[in-house]
Amino acid sequence: MEPSREYKRVYVWEQPVRWFHWINAACVIVLGVTGYLIAHPFALLSADEASFGYWVGTNRFIHFLTAYVFVGNFGFRLYWAFVGNKYARWRNFLPLRRWQLRQARDVLKVDILQSSDKVVHTLGHNSVAYFTYFGTALLTLFMIFSGYALYAPTSEAWFPQLFNWMMPLFGSEQNLRLFHYAGLWFFAVFIVIHVYLCFYHDYVEGHGVLLSIVGGWKFMEKRKAEAEEASGISEFVVEPKRSATDAAKRDLP
Ligand code: HEM
Repeated sequence: MEPSREYKRVYVWEQPVRWFHWINAACVIVLGVTGYLIAHPFALLSADEASFGYWVGTNRFIHFLTAYVFVGNFGFRLYWAFVGNKYARWRNFLPLRRWQLRQARDVLKVDILQSSDKVVHTLGHNSVAYFTYFGTALLTLFMIFSGYALYAPTSEAWFPQLFNWMMPLFGSEQNLRLFHYAGLWFFAVFIVIHVYLCFYHDYVEGHGVLLSIVGGWKFMEKRKAEAEEASGISEFVVEPKRSATDAAKRDLP
């Protein structure tokens, strides 16, 4: 009978990263819903009581207010990418190193191509996740730039005016609006895949990925965790894919 394995508890996501995550998630959902309602203001088609008729203005106000929180929160995460722990650092998000690309290939073989059963174990995000979040950071920047450029003509505040140069770049307000609207759907698709993959990785890896973004901790077999910690950020450890049930059976005393 195999002895039960010894696990190490590692503090991966610091509090600022976790706050960023949930504020960001809340902002994206509020911006998505209010943005959709700006594009499709259904109440305009109905003859409602006059006091309720102003909900379109209230909805726009919530959209713009949330946008300021979204910008501040994103700016804070950029700062944290320079001062946070090694899992939060900016370098991980850029596909610059050979081993990151190798790791991304190995993750895709398991997650998408299903051509390998070697699960990639990392304490931080895996490379595919880091690169995807780099993509969402670029999308975030685009949504901020295009959103404030659309807001600028009807605002007297100085901040939206910083983005006046976006409109000529896209030729017309209508074009810019179309791209800003398309961004909403990119985020919607991202959220569905993101949440699915978090559940999937939680199950096949067994490191407590899901709760790590709440409490900060992940759990990994001691020798694997120490191998990874010793090798810098995320040189990775691979092992054959096992279901959680197999793992539980193996670990029984
Ligand atoms: C109920 C919904 C959600 C759950 C359960 C969830 C779960 C998670 C988990 C577990 C991680 C850490 C993954 C790892 O350790 O590799 C993570 C990271 C991340 N999630 Fe979510 N997430 C949710 C919604 C969202 C939304 C709506 C967004 C934004 C569009 C988002 C954007 C991100 C980003 C950018 C990171 C990386 C954080 C960083 O390193 O700064 N998530 N999420």
